[in-house]
Amino acid sequence: MNDERSTTNAPLPFPSGWFRIAYSDELLPGQVRALHYFDRDFVLFRTATSKLHLFDAHCPHLGAHLGYGGKVNDETIQCPFHGWRFNGEGQCVEIPYACKVLPKVQIQSWQVREVNGTILMYYHPDRKPPDWEIPLLPEYTCKDWIPFKRRRWQVRTNPQEIAENGVDTAHSPFLHRQTFVSLKSQSIEIDGAILVHQLLPIYNLSFAAGLLGKENLGSLEISYYGLGCQVSRACIETVIELDFLAIFMLTPIEEKLLEIDLIFSMRKIFSKTLTKLFAPKILMQKIGRDLEQDISIWENKIYCDRPTLCESEGAIMKYRRWSQQFY
Ligand code: FES
Ligand SMILES: [Fe+2]
Repeated sequence: MNDERSTTNAPLPFPSGWFRIAYSDELLPGQVRALHYFDRDFVLFRTATSKLHLFDAHCPHLGAHLGYGGKVNDETIQCPFHGWRFNGEGQCVEIPYACKVLPKVQIQSWQVREVNGTILMYYHPDRKPPDWEIPLLPEYTCKDWIPFKRRRWQVRTNPQEIAENGVDTAHSPFLHRQTFVSLKSQSIEIDGAILVHQLLPIYNLSFAAGLLGKENLGSLEISYYGLGCQVSRACIETVIELDFLAIFMLTPIEEKLLEIDLIFSMRKIFSKTLTKLFAPKILMQKIGRDLEQDISIWENKIYCDRPTLCESEGAIMKYRRWSQQFY
């Protein structure tokens, strides 16, 4: 990166990795969706036997978008323009008005996975295959946890900046002072595309003072699965133990436009009423508000390639060195 990058808002390239593109319940067998991510058009469809496929959107015949009017026909998708059919590998298997198919006609397909109620694609600019996976989270299937809840934002930034927020501990007690009294980085463990950051937070619980006490020691672990998926597990130890799960899924739409999905759950507490009270309170007001406090910073900041950091901010450079593998 050159000097110009450190003083301008030049866009960062799209990182490679797994990125959320839909939720499982948004696509039933036989359904087709048009998608636009990474500045590209895609078509996502689920066949009669529930297999998922993601293709480049445009038909190699005369360019129709398969996501607008394309139909699933058994295990194939049929173009809405002249009816050519393509199998799960993207190969043309039927041209309705010709006796022979053209053997080399193929639409490019992308790797997809379905895990934790989400549908993810593997993006690589050179279409290299994935060499790591997003794991199944135990909280997704565990009956002790409430069903996952979701919220979405569109922000003019990129995944690099948002993921950096979790290792930038110094900003939390300042910008998010209603949530954190203090936040310290304890350790960072790296295993290929996965980075696990252990933190020592003191939470500000003034929102529930009286019930929980004003400040509280707890734990916070943020696991990064590439730059598209961040899983935060937080525990507040008080009269009752509160365990939360907040998954941030970051998918670039264009160079400077990012979709941020927050998926939230918490371990059920003994009282149903208390569980109901805390879930929307924490989700809607605290996590959402913290993220919204960052938005105007993200949308207006520049990417400082060589930042001026204090001694206690070493986690930022560790994170940056790890993130280089995705470019
Ligand atoms: S454009 Fe798709 S079949 Fe003609
Ligand atoms: Fe933040």
